[in-house]
Amino acid sequence: MKFETLPGFRSFYPEQCSVRNYLFDTWRKSAHLFRFKEYDAPVLEPLDLYIEKSGDEIVGQLFNFTDRGDRSVAMRPEMTPSLARLVGVQANSLKRPVKWFSIGEQYRYERPQKGRLRAFYQFNVDLLGEPGVGADAELIACLIESLRLFGLESKDFKIRLSDRKLWTFFLQHWGVEASAMPEVLTLMDRIEKMDEDAVFEQLRQFFDTEAESFFESVQSFLKIASLEDLQSFFSELNLNERFAQQVEDRILEFNSLCTLISEMGLSAYLSIDFKIVRGLAYYTGFVFEAFEASGRGRALAGGGRYDDLIERLSGNSMEAVGFAMGDVTLLDLLESRSLLPTLTDKPDVVLIFSGDEERAAALKDAAFLRHSGFRVEYPLKQLGFSKQFKEVNQKGVELALIYGSDELKANKVKLKNFKTGEELLIAREESALKHALRA
Ligand code: HAM
Repeated sequence: MKFETLPGFRSFYPEQCSVRNYLFDTWRKSAHLFRFKEYDAPVLEPLDLYIEKSGDEIVGQLFNFTDRGDRSVAMRPEMTPSLARLVGVQANSLKRPVKWFSIGEQYRYERPQKGRLRAFYQFNVDLLGEPGVGADAELIACLIESLRLFGLESKDFKIRLSDRKLWTFFLQHWGVEASAMPEVLTLMDRIEKMDEDAVFEQLRQFFDTEAESFFESVQSFLKIASLEDLQSFFSELNLNERFAQQVEDRILEFNSLCTLISEMGLSAYLSIDFKIVRGLAYYTGFVFEAFEASGRGRALAGGGRYDDLIERLSGNSMEAVGFAMGDVTLLDLLESRSLLPTLTDKPDVVLIFSGDEERAAALKDAAFLRHSGFRVEYPLKQLGFSKQFKEVNQKGVELALIYGSDELKANKVKLKNFKTGEELLIAREESALKHALRA
């Protein structure tokens, strides 16, 4: 019988593991630059954690089953509900703002395709307990910096900023009731990907004879690309006074967020784009996604503000904003831009010997050198000198300690630099060996 990896799952051979480690190290570095602390949560969670909280799209993609204790469980499709639970439990004792990040595998039963798998890694960064736009700006800045740390620039990627609040005002203006809002927002999230007939079929359910006019209005809403466009779009809607004031206040907040990003010198990375709605149910404010600059391909990252989720899960209220970046689309982008560094994994020193006495001396030195932090290799079976020299050359290793019988008699060993050809006799004492290898 032949066993294969399941569709949408990946095996990681050592070369792929080192690339993955590079991604994780870089993600971790960017989180630390912004002073986020690392946390983790279980990969298997109660199914209920995701029902209603994440929204229909994710619930339809769950890897869920009943465990042997008759519990309904699911492999986590995202980190946010687990984080909300963790923070919710400690909401009253945590010092605010809470800045946490996590790196972990997520599972979604999606159709495997370019940029989409069934098991993938996410870098989740969340800031909790701060309602103001300063938090949204900090998150967007962290997202930008984490992509820049990989060598990506504003010509390579863009953050598209949108707002669930303005979307909601717009839909309320068109008579959408609160109860229908999640469904209409989901439709708006898909509107660009659906064919027009299917869109109209659904729009008629909500807007009846006004479906055409609504569609026209949505098209103009989706064209907004600046704060000026935003202002004029809403002033042309002729909103009633109370509504107009709320919209105006929100546009001021939108403006403040853009100002903060601009003060950080990051405006080149940002574009206003109401095509971003976000598929997840819990967002309540600004939402954003990172895309390859031409807009092609799947999102690199997505996130936004979700001020109600923690209260819904724990009873303790706490505002929150966060994003998650996936490894699959990021890797595709880095490869297409030739931005993956050549990750070499060479030993610091190779020990060359032949004969039992020489091996005993080399093994003794290998043990203490490793204990001192040097990455050491030596042949596990007796090999001739010429074969060992050839291997050192092939691997491109710079330094070798050569254990010859004459040198050993004088308690010495020869250090050879294969790059320069230089050779040096060193006393076989810990400090002398360490000193010579570090020099
Ligand atoms: P999301 O948009 O569902 O958001 O996922 C974020 C990122 O994860 C996507 O932009 C993509 O890079 C990656 N991703 C999602 N699904 C797949 C897949 N099937 N295969 C490969 N990569 C994928 C969330 O998960 C939110 N929980 C983010 C968040 C954190 N919001 C607030 N805090």
